[in-house]
Amino acid sequence: MKLTLKIWRQKNSKAKGRFETYQMDNVSPEMAFLEMLDALNKRLVEEGNEPVAFDHDCREGICGSCGMYINGHPHGPVPAVTTCHLSMRFFRDGETIWIEPWRAKPFPVIRDLIVDRSAFDKIQVAGGFISVNTGSAPEANSSLVKKHDSDLAFDSAVCIGCGACVAACKNASAMLFVSAKISQFALLPQGRVEARERVRAMVRKMDELGFGNCSNTGSCEAECPKEIKLANIARLNREFYKAY
Ligand code: SF4
Ligand code: FES
Repeated sequence: MKLTLKIWRQKNSKAKGRFETYQMDNVSPEMAFLEMLDALNKRLVEEGNEPVAFDHDCREGICGSCGMYINGHPHGPVPAVTTCHLSMRFFRDGETIWIEPWRAKPFPVIRDLIVDRSAFDKIQVAGGFISVNTGSAPEANSSLVKKHDSDLAFDSAVCIGCGACVAACKNASAMLFVSAKISQFALLPQGRVEARERVRAMVRKMDELGFGNCSNTGSCEAECPKEIKLANIARLNREFYKAY
């Protein structure tokens, strides 16, 4: 396939960014999207130009670092797929692809497509943990948990902290992320002990860092690559009210 790439280039958070155009020939539909960017970078380096900076680590859909806007969608146009799992077969020969970083104040651009998502780490540090001495693995049936609750807790725990929910939200709200992190504990007996302190601290930190509030648009759920449900936000709100 022949493709035209319009890629956001920006030296750092202070510099002014702009779209640069790159032509790509011989892109195989079998390639992963990030492999296509690797091929572009190889060419740019060979030509003596600066490669495009983009974030990635696992390339298996589990670390959450590969977020970028592709044709107006966080992680690209395919639902429930991270950028690293996006295949070039979803694009057409001759297509123009627009590639941009997350655009949200709490996620400043570090370079090109890489943004600083450490605000999420700060929210986690504020309360996204359990302070119990875990010791060795307990016998599986020693604390009984309803299957329905354990399934819901697991569904929330699959959040990879990629930030697509924030990027998709017109308010740059982190409510879907925080609600997933709250829910994975709130639904299990081990998480109930510190539930009040946890929700207060995480919501306080989220507000302090400049994330907006939820106005029930639902774009976060629509764009989340792990299909985290809005129902988690309702649970977060209930947990928050109970904590005061
Ligand atoms: S809720 Fe979804 S979009 Fe938001 S950080 Fe978690 S996995 Fe990413
Ligand atoms: S590189 Fe880890 S989720 Fe994409």
